[in-house]
Amino acid sequence: MVNSSYKILHKGGTSVFQHTVEGWKINTSLVLEIRKDILRFLDAERDVSVVKSSFKPGDVIHYVLDRRRTLNISSNLHSLLPEKSPMKGRRFKTCAVVGNSGILLDSQCGKEIDSHDFVIRCNLAPVVEFTADVGTKSDFITMNPSVVQRAFGGFRNESDREKFVHRLSMLNDSVLWIPAFMVKGGEKHVEWVNALILKNKLKVRTAYPSLRLIHAVRGYWLTNKVHIKRPSTGLLMYTLSTRFCDEIHLYGFWPFPEDFNGKAVKYHYYDDLKYRYFSNASPHRMPLEFKTLNVLHNKGALKLTTGKCE
Ligand code: CTP
Repeated sequence: MVNSSYKILHKGGTSVFQHTVEGWKINTSLVLEIRKDILRFLDAERDVSVVKSSFKPGDVIHYVLDRRRTLNISSNLHSLLPEKSPMKGRRFKTCAVVGNSGILLDSQCGKEIDSHDFVIRCNLAPVVEFTADVGTKSDFITMNPSVVQRAFGGFRNESDREKFVHRLSMLNDSVLWIPAFMVKGGEKHVEWVNALILKNKLKVRTAYPSLRLIHAVRGYWLTNKVHIKRPSTGLLMYTLSTRFCDEIHLYGFWPFPEDFNGKAVKYHYYDDLKYRYFSNASPHRMPLEFKTLNVLHNKGALKLTTGKCE
């Protein structure tokens, strides 16, 4: 077994991570143990989305992380709530959870990512121009409401809306996971997205995470002494996928501005966003999440790919 160590500089100082490169093997009993532990906090089959029968149009709900603020369940939103969990009864041998780090650039991981039975991506990240490194398959894709502003010009122009509709039409009937009830601020974007899906009769299967999901996920990690303020989308996706996937492979998780050879790494593989987690205002603790995932990798609970794929 060959071990390599990463020496990474970040705001808090330098961290050294041991990382098993060759000879990595899945630890099935640990995978089952983690699945069972997580099930004590949440049932991903159920918590992955609220369902239609839980609400009626006009219901008022409190934002999960902003309890004083409320949201009205509009008739468009209600009509897009799934009848039953989009993950009900779904099980996969291998899954890929693809984060958005620039570490994916030049990785040649596209084929390997697409070879997994189920591929989860984050924040509607583009794939077309990056196929060789990130692949194209997307069975489940998340979309924070802020993506509308960040990647689609706030839908100000017809061309922004067309670009968005085109992106969603590429997803066919994949699950589009929209955390609409987390914090106030994105309700108008969620409404526009819902209206475009309905107007264009897009096949995508919308899902809106349950009101308890984020607290349950945070509770699981806190109980395991991982003190995260708010789990990142990538960590949420890993936690959820333990329910559905026997073998979880992570790609694009690297929240550091340099690789282990000191070469600059972009925050996102597809845009020029800067490293926000350096600021104390950032809700995430991505380096801590990475460290935790790397420990799980070394124990065979998951596979974390941070280099090139063969
Ligand atoms: N990620 C990472 N290293 C980076 C960028 C992203 O490990 N340099 C992982 C994180 O787990 C992140 C996920 O990839 O949640 C998706 O990236 P991104 O779309 O940037 O997520 P965020 O913008 O941080 O969105 P959120 O606040 O929902 O996590």
